[in-house]
Amino acid sequence: MKLTFLGNGNMAKALIKGLIKDYQIEVLGRNETSLNNLKEEIPSIEIGVLSSSNDMTNKNIILCVKPNSLDDLSPRLTGIASSIYSVLAGTTIETLKESISAKAYIRTMPNLSASYLKSMTTITGDEALKTLAIEIFNNIGTTLWVKSQKELDIATAIAGSGPAYLALIAESLEDGGVNAGLTRADARKLVQGLFEGFSPLLDDNTPASIKDGVMSPGGTTAAGYSAMEKCGVRNGMIEAISCAYAKAKELGQK
Ligand SMILES: NC(=O)c1ccc[n+]([C@@H]2O[C@H](COP(=O)([O-])OP(=O)(O)OC[C@H]3O[C@@H](n4cnc5c(N)ncnc54)[C@H](OP(=O)(O)O)[C@@H]3O)[C@@H](O)[C@H]2O)c1
Repeated sequence: MKLTFLGNGNMAKALIKGLIKDYQIEVLGRNETSLNNLKEEIPSIEIGVLSSSNDMTNKNIILCVKPNSLDDLSPRLTGIASSIYSVLAGTTIETLKESISAKAYIRTMPNLSASYLKSMTTITGDEALKTLAIEIFNNIGTTLWVKSQKELDIATAIAGSGPAYLALIAESLEDGGVNAGLTRADARKLVQGLFEGFSPLLDDNTPASIKDGVMSPGGTTAAGYSAMEKCGVRNGMIEAISCAYAKAKELGQK
């Protein structure tokens, strides 16, 4: 099966690296130099520079431009594509339908970890493409199919924005270590190891049971944990998801 990428930036590159072993890949972009650089990196792809009129008939498109580029790109696409898989944050399926003609539409939300083929990607759209969409995006990490764009917007708040929220936690743990007397380098090394080891724990345990497993009565973890609760870390996170979801809805209405 051949997949046609529109756009050749960070997200496209991550996806192509994950997909190249199983799919024929065509990449269409606007910048010949960056397309040539990509071809040098991944020689088996086909590349092409978009013109004022580009026939998309029967193509399976992975749409990888920025959301604000859609207005410029769509008038230059003709014909009816077979399918569109969009990674555009906040761009609804209704907007995609108004912009590019296709038989079926999928909307996805990967995250920054796609560049390490470890994205947590949420997917929704035409049920007919569900199996294929999951197969495509499993190549850059883990996928979750949801039934509605509302759920995709909530998932965007958790997994799309999540790397930024975890970065805040990571940075504050580092700052706490430095404040108590560790070097920045040692504090960073500890936090990196902590995050790496936490992932398998979370695969097999609920957050509550991890917490119970670490916390002994009257111990150091309990002291730190109660300080976190007093400072509102839990409510801060709940509020972060709520505000990010509200913003995703607002952007989708524009
Ligand atoms: N990066 C992430 O973590 C992430 C996560 C989730 C979703 N996304 C979504 O992924 C999409 C792409 O993000 P990205 O990080 O890959 O951005 P990016 O690195 O800036 O890449 C955007 C690509 O689109 C091309 N482009 C822009 N305007 C165009 C136009 N009018 N016609 C044709 N090509 C055009 C750019 O070409 P030039 O090289 O010429 O500029 C570039 O190749 C976005 O919609 C974003 O919402 C990204």
